[in-house]
Amino acid sequence: MDYSQKISERQWNQPDKGELESRREETYIDDIIQKDHLQRKLLENLDGIRTVFDGGAGSGRFSILLARQGCHVTHFDISQPMIDKARELAEQAGVLDRITFVKGALEDLSAFPDRAFDLVISFDAPVSYTYPNQNRVIAELVRIARKRIMLSVSSRLGSLPYLANPIQKNQFILDEDADDPFVRWCVAGRERMVEGFSFDVRRAEKLLADGLMGGEAEIAEYERGGVPWCITYTFLPDELAGLLTELGVRDVRLSGPGAYGRTLPREILLKIMRDPGQKRDFLDFCYRFDANPYVCGLGKDNLLAVGEIP
Ligand SMILES: C[S@@+](CC[C@H](N)C(=O)[O-])C[C@H]1O[C@@H](n2cnc3c(N)ncnc32)[C@H](O)[C@@H]1O
Repeated sequence: MDYSQKISERQWNQPDKGELESRREETYIDDIIQKDHLQRKLLENLDGIRTVFDGGAGSGRFSILLARQGCHVTHFDISQPMIDKARELAEQAGVLDRITFVKGALEDLSAFPDRAFDLVISFDAPVSYTYPNQNRVIAELVRIARKRIMLSVSSRLGSLPYLANPIQKNQFILDEDADDPFVRWCVAGRERMVEGFSFDVRRAEKLLADGLMGGEAEIAEYERGGVPWCITYTFLPDELAGLLTELGVRDVRLSGPGAYGRTLPREILLKIMRDPGQKRDFLDFCYRFDANPYVCGLGKDNLLAVGEIP
């Protein structure tokens, strides 16, 4: 088993992961914008879709939405806490009978026959955590799709600005007093991160060239028994579109959820989020702006591709 898979297993199987993931939109504005975009895109692309495979489905943000639309969903994830949380939420939503939960790694989809699902989705970067197998995993996801595939992966151009802005996530915190551990870390470390910051052009050039976030240091931490963040492969827009096209996917459309929101300071984002009318208009506009392929590299840190299987 590759280190990426072992690290992912440990990272995502932490007991509180399902609970924290299920509360992301209560905590972060960029997550609200991204989820809104993915959800709209999904709802626009359900014509003729009855069966769905959701790879790295997490706490069920999209599998439950799809089940509510009448689809039969295979909710596939490497993490038991995620699956447990999703099952609890699916039960509350009354859609347990339309979701099959499967614990497994995207690196092995051999249990699923060719063209087994009308729609295959994998949202918010599960594919990026399968390095160095990400291209093979995408090929497998395409293999099991009958009509359509929708993938959101880590974006290289979207990730690079984090290297020049260690406090970028602070921009998106909804409530600075929230008890989410990452919010606490961002708020407590803000001054220290600014003071200790210097732009490291070699790090930026390395990420631009090889697309990899993490590596030896994460492996060493894992071996010490720690819980490092996943080794993450970030894609360039043309690379993702080219890969899907080579696999026979047609009409590939790219978008960058979060690109417009990224241009605004926290004070303004908060004003918009606290006014329901402005929030609705803003999310409508973000959706249109972020779906323009010319901004697709600059989304939150995800890049979305939708394509048709001939
Ligand atoms: C950021 S969450 C996204 C969850 C969900 N797709 C969503 O958008 O709400 C990433 C998910 O990918 C899962 N994951 C990570 N690596 C995986 C792998 N190799 N195979 C299957 N699932 C994986 C994690 O357990 C986690 O639930």
